[in-house]
Amino acid sequence: MQDLNIVILAAGMGKRMYSEIPKVLHQVGNKSMLQHVIQTAMELAPKHLVIVYGHGGELVKHTINAAFPDNNFIWAHQEQQLGTGHALKSALPYIEEKGATLLLYGDVPLISKQTLSAMLDKYDNNIVMLTAQLENPTGYGRVLRDIESNINGIVEEKDATPGERQIQEINTGFYVFPNSGMFEWLHRLSNDNSQGEYYVTDLVAMAYQQDFEIDYVQSHKQHEIMGVNNKLQLEYLERIYQASLADKLLEAGATLMDKKRIDIRGSVSVGKDCVIDINCIFEGSVILANNVRIGANSILKNVQIGDGVEIKPCSIIEDAQIGDACQIGPFARIRPGTRLSSSVHVGNFVEIKKSDVGIGSKVNHLTYIGDATIGSKVNVGAGSVTCNYDGTNKFKTIIQDNVFVGSGTMMVAPVTLGEGSVIGAGSVITKDAPANELTVARAKQNTVVGWLQRTRRKS
Ligand code: UD1
Ligand code: CA
Repeated sequence: MQDLNIVILAAGMGKRMYSEIPKVLHQVGNKSMLQHVIQTAMELAPKHLVIVYGHGGELVKHTINAAFPDNNFIWAHQEQQLGTGHALKSALPYIEEKGATLLLYGDVPLISKQTLSAMLDKYDNNIVMLTAQLENPTGYGRVLRDIESNINGIVEEKDATPGERQIQEINTGFYVFPNSGMFEWLHRLSNDNSQGEYYVTDLVAMAYQQDFEIDYVQSHKQHEIMGVNNKLQLEYLERIYQASLADKLLEAGATLMDKKRIDIRGSVSVGKDCVIDINCIFEGSVILANNVRIGANSILKNVQIGDGVEIKPCSIIEDAQIGDACQIGPFARIRPGTRLSSSVHVGNFVEIKKSDVGIGSKVNHLTYIGDATIGSKVNVGAGSVTCNYDGTNKFKTIIQDNVFVGSGTMMVAPVTLGEGSVIGAGSVITKDAPANELTVARAKQNTVVGWLQRTRRKS
C-alpha cells in the first residue's frame, strides 16, 4: 500500500513483569517483543515506521538500533502515559495527513503479516479493525454494533454496562485509520471516562458519526492478538512461538524426536535427513547440511555443520564451523573461532577454542586445545593441553601433519611440533620438536633399589 504509516506503541512500563527491563524488551525466542513487531511491520514496507516510546526509552532505542543497523525508524517520545489515544497522538508530528496508519503494539509480539495484510486489503479510506470472538472476553474492550450490525463504537470494560459486558466480540486494539480523519479525531479526543485516559477506541465512534465506514477482520488465532503483561503470558507465547518454529523445521524435513523438546532461539536450516534428539537448544544462525545427527542435550550457537556429522549427546558448540563427517562428543565443548576440517574426531571432555584442525585428526579424550593450528592426521592423546596463556598473553601452538602427541603432554606455547614428530607421553614441550623424530621431555624414571626394605625394617 502506498503512503502506509505504521505506529507501534511501546511506551508501557510493564509493572506486572516485576523487572528493571522495559516491557517491550522482554524476549520471545531470544528476540525482544518489540523486535518481533518491527520485523513484521517491515514486511509490510511502510513509508514511515514510528515507535512511540517512554519508559526505559534510551535502553529501548539502543537495543532496537543494535538489532536493526541502518534503520530509519522514527522515535516519538510519549512523556506521560495518558492513554492509547494520547500515545497515537504523540506520533502525529512524524506522519503526513495523507495515506493511512496501521496501529501495532510492542507487547503483542506474534501478530502475523497475513492478518495485517488482510486488514490492509480491506482498507479504502475507512477504518479497518481487527476483532475476535472470545469465550471469555473479560478485560477487553467490546465491539458495539448498530441495528444493521455495523460497528459503531467500542466500549472499554470499565465503562461498559452489564449488558455490554455480555458481548463476546472484542477489540484487539489493531486498526487501520485514514490519516485525514485520524488527525481530526485525535485532536478532538477527550479523557472523559472512568480511567481518565485518552482512548484510541473512541475514534471508532467519532468516525461512525461522520459516516465513515467501519470494516473489520476477525482473528481466529488467539496468540496473535495476545499481549504480554506478566511472565505467565510471556512464557505462554514463548511456547506457542517455539511450537511454530518446530513445525517449520519438521516441514523442512528434519526429524525431531520430540517437537516439544527443542528450543530455537534464532534460526535453523536443515539439509536432508537430519535427526535431532531431545532437549537441544539452537541459538543464532545454525546451518545443518545433510545427514547431520545431533544427540540429546546439545547446544549449538552460530554454527555451520557439514554433511554426515554426528554430534553425540551433551555437546556445546559456539561460533564454529564443523566440516563433513566429523564426530563430536559426547560432552565436547567447541568454542568460538574453531574450524574443524572433514572427518575430525573430537571426543568426550575435550575443549577446543579458536583453533583449526585438519582433515582426519583426532582429539579424543580430556584435552584442551586453544589458539592452535593442527594439521591433518594428527592424534592428540588423552589429557593433553596447549598451554596457551602465561597470565598476560596468549600464544599459538602449531602441530603439523601426522604428529602423534602422547597422552598427558603439555605444549607450552609458542611452540611447533614438526611434521610426523612423535611426542612421548607426559612430556612438557617448551621448545619446537623436530619433524619425524621422537621427542620426550620428562624426568627420567628412577627406581630406588632397597628403599622399601629399609623403611619397613625401621617401623
Ligand atoms: C486496549 C484497548 C481495548 C482492547 C485492548 C486489547 C484502549 C482504550 N483500549 O486496552 O479496547 O481490548 O487494548 O488488548 O485502547 N500504551 C502507551 N501509552 C499509553 C497507554 C498505552 O504506549 O499512554 C501502550 C501500552 O504500553 C500497551 C498498549 O498501549 O502496549 C495498550 O495499552 P493498555 O493500557 O494495555 O490498553 P488496554 O487497557 O489493554
Ligand atoms: Ca489499560
